[in-house]
Amino acid sequence: MSHIPYESLSGHLKDQRILLVGGAGFIGHNLALDLANLGATVGICDNLMVNSLIENCYEPGRAQVQRTAYQNFLLDRFLLLRQVGVELMNSDARLLADLGRVFERFQPTKVVHMAAIASAVDAKAEPGLCFDLQLITLRNVLELVRPKVKEINQVMFMSSSTVYGDFEGDSVDETTFPRPEGIYANAKFMGERLVRTYRTQYGLGTTVVRPSALYGERCISRRVSQVFIENALTGKPLLLEGGGDGKLDFTYIKDLTQGMVRALALHKGHDDSSTFNLTFGNARTIADLAAVVKSVVPDAILEERPRAKDKPIRGTLSIERAREKLGFEPEWTLESGFKQYCEWYVDQWRRAQQQTEAN
Ligand SMILES: NC(=O)c1ccc[n+]([C@@H]2O[C@H](COP(=O)([O-])OP(=O)(O)OC[C@H]3O[C@@H](n4cnc5c(N)ncnc54)[C@H](O)[C@@H]3O)[C@@H](O)[C@H]2O)c1
Repeated sequence: MSHIPYESLSGHLKDQRILLVGGAGFIGHNLALDLANLGATVGICDNLMVNSLIENCYEPGRAQVQRTAYQNFLLDRFLLLRQVGVELMNSDARLLADLGRVFERFQPTKVVHMAAIASAVDAKAEPGLCFDLQLITLRNVLELVRPKVKEINQVMFMSSSTVYGDFEGDSVDETTFPRPEGIYANAKFMGERLVRTYRTQYGLGTTVVRPSALYGERCISRRVSQVFIENALTGKPLLLEGGGDGKLDFTYIKDLTQGMVRALALHKGHDDSSTFNLTFGNARTIADLAAVVKSVVPDAILEERPRAKDKPIRGTLSIERAREKLGFEPEWTLESGFKQYCEWYVDQWRRAQQQTEAN
């Protein structure tokens, strides 16, 4: 596909009403801002139960500076969303009647499903909740879209790179057969299959997105990218298991949302059903990640640890399909994107320290 300029996507989006279920989270609010800036009408349905202000207040063992920083991140999300006119509907997508009222009120033409416990480790600790937040909410979305396939032209499902399980080679593409392990990855795989079943049996237009190892502004999920910069700022070591040779396809949130915007804008309607890896497309080591942190915080302490036995084996997710069909072109390497994020984090940490001292 010849390159489609990002700004030109506005023409495809300005008449769309896009509902983000679980949209107040890290990915959702960043996507909402991009879509609204391109002229789409965006609504968020979120019950604010995961990674929320309340959780942040009560999370045991969180230091005051950390609590203040996360509170700023969360409040900034809502201020930014309000500035661009995104509608926030506080509703629990596990309840069909609640979600039904949101559909009735917002009248979406596209729905993006993102509600989940967005961490395989947390999901393992609460498998029942993982099941409900990922699959009961998805069931309700699909059941509400089913009688409205004429009005709602696309359901996008946020899956995960974890559906691939342990990588056998250096990279996987969308034709690689998934071998998910654990409750989180299996619930994602079941979600994908449900979405495809509703497409073949009821004619829904669908898109499945598989992201990987995201980092970026206002995330409070405490993935390794956030833990490393925070440890560097608080004098704690950055732990490198097996010397840090484990690889992940680290992806800046701006690259992911560019790809999602393209997949929403260029979707061709009810006959269109695709699965896309949307990542940077080149796995890097944990040691590379640590090196970027050290370039921003020179005092950072790097400490080697033995490798955990059950560590998943990951690598690159090929993005050739998204390149070809969507004109997707990620722009941010670790040395540019992650560095920019670390510098932002340093500023935010300082801001939180000053607020904490003032109180
Ligand atoms: N962040 C990543 O690196 C990553 C990678 C792969 C896949 N994903 C997937 O992308 C999606 C979004 O991830 P994220 O990082 O933004 O997570 P997040 O925790 O920041 O956001 C998830 C949002 O879903 C909301 N939610 C949960 N249950 C709900 C319910 N019953 N009703 C309404 N809202 C509900 C939460 O309150 C939260 O705001 C998830 O499905 C996640 O599994 C994320």
